[in-house]
Amino acid sequence: MATVTELLQPVELDLETLLNDLRSLIGAGHPILQAAAEHLFSAGGKRLRPGIVLLISRALSVDGELTSRHKRLAEITEMIHTASLVHDDVVDEAATRRGVPTVHSQFNHRVAVLAGDFLFAQASWHLANLNNLDVVKLLSRVIMDLADGEIKQGLYRYDAGQKFSSYLEKSYCKTASLIANSAQAAGVLSEQSDEELKKLYCFGRQLGLAFQVVDDILDFTANDKQLGKPAASDLASGYLTAPALYALEEKPALSGLVEREFSAEGDLEEALQLVRDSDAISRSRELAKTFAKESRESILWLKESEYSRALLELPEFVLSRLY
Ligand code: IPE
Ligand code: IPE
Ligand code: MG
Ligand code: MG
Repeated sequence: MATVTELLQPVELDLETLLNDLRSLIGAGHPILQAAAEHLFSAGGKRLRPGIVLLISRALSVDGELTSRHKRLAEITEMIHTASLVHDDVVDEAATRRGVPTVHSQFNHRVAVLAGDFLFAQASWHLANLNNLDVVKLLSRVIMDLADGEIKQGLYRYDAGQKFSSYLEKSYCKTASLIANSAQAAGVLSEQSDEELKKLYCFGRQLGLAFQVVDDILDFTANDKQLGKPAASDLASGYLTAPALYALEEKPALSGLVEREFSAEGDLEEALQLVRDSDAISRSRELAKTFAKESRESILWLKESEYSRALLELPEFVLSRLY
């Protein structure tokens, strides 16, 4: 299976300029905030979200070329994503991200909150300057969803009685909304029909859900180094994700441990073991597979090109992170 770099190879040059452009876009701000933002941009994420925007833009383009607005949309997408990570790490009290210290641990909490706000604000400004009201509506909705998702996640902490659908709604808000709406926005800039816009949205939504379920499985199965961020931390923080929710159906003992917030010695280890000893991980894999399949099926209509081929392989790539 291809790595993300191989998969995004058709837009590799675009992604290289993206990083430089992002640096100069945020360059105008306060030096400390700039340093904080720069810190994460240089650590280098997978750049999956701008990669998707660029692949869709090129796949839909008549001459295969990108307009400056499509490029700007890709930049805005990565800016919003990075801002959400800076704030998420504050909420989670996470020490590392992308293999380096998080902004709040490198600087401090005040700087992290402001740096996240600063990135959201910059993203909004550049978004407005695209002069396309439909695109503004799609991406500003994402910023609302991100805040909503963090709030939902907080509300359901240690709630062993929560519905599976609440977990999926939270995952839509925190992860799938950005991928779905930015995929659709790329289609808007390329003047696609309503039907095609809907399919691009579905592609992104199902891909985002698959991606989140995979991330939630990896939290149980991978280590810090593989992830570049702390592993085995969701359950410890009281975040009940797909594996934990499935395990709760199978192992009633888990519920008591969760409800007392793993307060007794050895509770957390016992809970992790219960999840690992159940069918929860394989059921979560099946769920991610279903989302990935639905994602792929939403873009079968794209005309054949190296860009559409990469897009069609993305759902499988997301799953391959599990193996
Ligand atoms: C992290 O996203 C947040 C989740 C949706 C799990 P990525 O795994 O795409 O993060 P980077 O951008 O590559 O660091
Ligand atoms: C991913 O949620 C989406 C955002 C960060 C907004 P997670 O909470 O699962 O992300 P990680 O695991 O901290 O990267
Ligand atoms: Mg988190
Ligand atoms: Mg996670």
